This record gives sequence, C-alpha cells and structure tokens, in this order.
Amino acid sequence: MFKVIIKDTYDEVSKEAFKVMKAVLDEKKDAVLGLATGSTPIGLYQEMIKDHKENGTSYKDVITFNLDEYVGIPQDHRESYYTFMHKELFDYIDCPEDHIHVPYGAGEDPEADAAAYEAEIKKYQVDIQLLGIGSDGHIAFNEPGTPFDSETHVAQLAQSTIDDNCRFFDNDPSQVPTKAVTQGIATIMRAKKILLVATGANKADAVYGMLKAEKSTDCTASALQDHEDVVVILDKAAAAKVN
Ligand code: F6R
Repeated sequence: MFKVIIKDTYDEVSKEAFKVMKAVLDEKKDAVLGLATGSTPIGLYQEMIKDHKENGTSYKDVITFNLDEYVGIPQDHRESYYTFMHKELFDYIDCPEDHIHVPYGAGEDPEADAAAYEAEIKKYQVDIQLLGIGSDGHIAFNEPGTPFDSETHVAQLAQSTIDDNCRFFDNDPSQVPTKAVTQGIATIMRAKKILLVATGANKADAVYGMLKAEKSTDCTASALQDHEDVVVILDKAAAAKVN
C-alpha cells in the first residue's frame, strides 16, 4: 500500500524522508537499514548526519545493506557505490565498518559475489529500505524486464541508465560500467517498510508507472504495488503525472 507525500522542494522531500527514517531508528536502535546511492538520497543523508551530530542519534548497533554496486571498477574508485556511501554518510556517523554491507562488484566472479550477498541479507529482515527510482522505472538496478522473483544478481545496465549516470563519469558514457551487482525485486520486497524518494520532471513517467500503471516488469518499481507499507515522497515535478 502506497502513502504518497508531495512536497514543494528537494529540501522538504529530504526532511520528510528523514522523519520516516528517524521514526524507525527511534523505535529500534539496532534497526537494519537498506540504503541507496544516487543523487536523490544525498539530502536525507545530510539530515541523518546533522541529527547524529546535534542530537547524538547513534548507529553503533545499526546494520546496513546497500542496494547495488557497479561491476568492474575497484571498490576504492571515486564513483564506486562503496566510496559514495562512505563519502556521503558512513564517514560522518558511528556505524561500525563491519556492520556495513555493500555488494562487491570488483571480484573475479560477480555472480558468486551476488549469491553470497543474497545469502547474507537473508539472515536479516530489513526494517526500512530506502529507494530512488530510475527514469526508466528501475529500483536498484532492476531494469525493465527483470522478473519480480529476482534475487541479488548481476544486471546489465540499460542504455538510459548509462546515459543518466554518465554525469558522474566526465559525461562520457564509455566510462560508465555496463553491469552491476544488484539486489533483486524479491530481495527488496522482503523489507518491512519501503521509503522511496523521487524528485525532478525526468522521474514523472517512472512515478506514474509505479503508482498508476498496471503492474508490469516494463516498470520494475510497479512491483511495489504489492508491498504492504511503501512511503513515497515526491516533489511537484516528479508528481506531475499522478496528481
Ligand atoms: C542507487 C540505485 C538506483 C537509483 C536510481 C535513481 O543505489 O539503486 O536505482 O536510486 O537510479 O538515481 P538518482 O537518485 O541519481 O536519480
């Protein structure tokens, strides 16, 4: 079931998302957080850092699982999702390094690393899974056509995703990795609660596909129509086609 909240600005979207995240942390100090990369969650991560600094909210008992990681770039690459998460969040909170899980995409056998990640995340239940949404409706790197029963796997990135992400790779699509290790749709759906944030006009079609179109792997986010507890926080531009 979707609860949709529409805000005027990116800043307000981030603050609203923080409230949802904080409620989970307040209830359970050893919460399992599912985290996402991309531009959209950065404002929420800034709110979490500020709250940690000012109010002492602790992450020392928290466990985290990220959604995905590029295949074929080293973990310490400036654009790896491992680096992103440290730079945008983990370096500023007190979550122990051994509580942090980011899929490993730099190994010899990414399929085996994906299977190992799925086995690890299955030992827990994610209390809240943060998601962004791709302009093609993907969640994590589950591109159009990915089956709803998919678990963590190696995915081929869609050309539109490569084009969207080339802004991080000197605007050069040939530098963007073409594959990723990603949680599957079924992995994501096991989370107790989902928090999806989307801003900007280029997300409006994907948001429509998730909320209003018939459930279909053409827009993998539409799988969330079957989840019991999804909070969707949008700005007006991303909500333009569902209002
Ligand atoms: C990131 C992820 C992706 C992004 C999506 C939106 O871990 O799994 O699905 O959430 O591509 O990215 P942004 O927020 O950069 O528009």
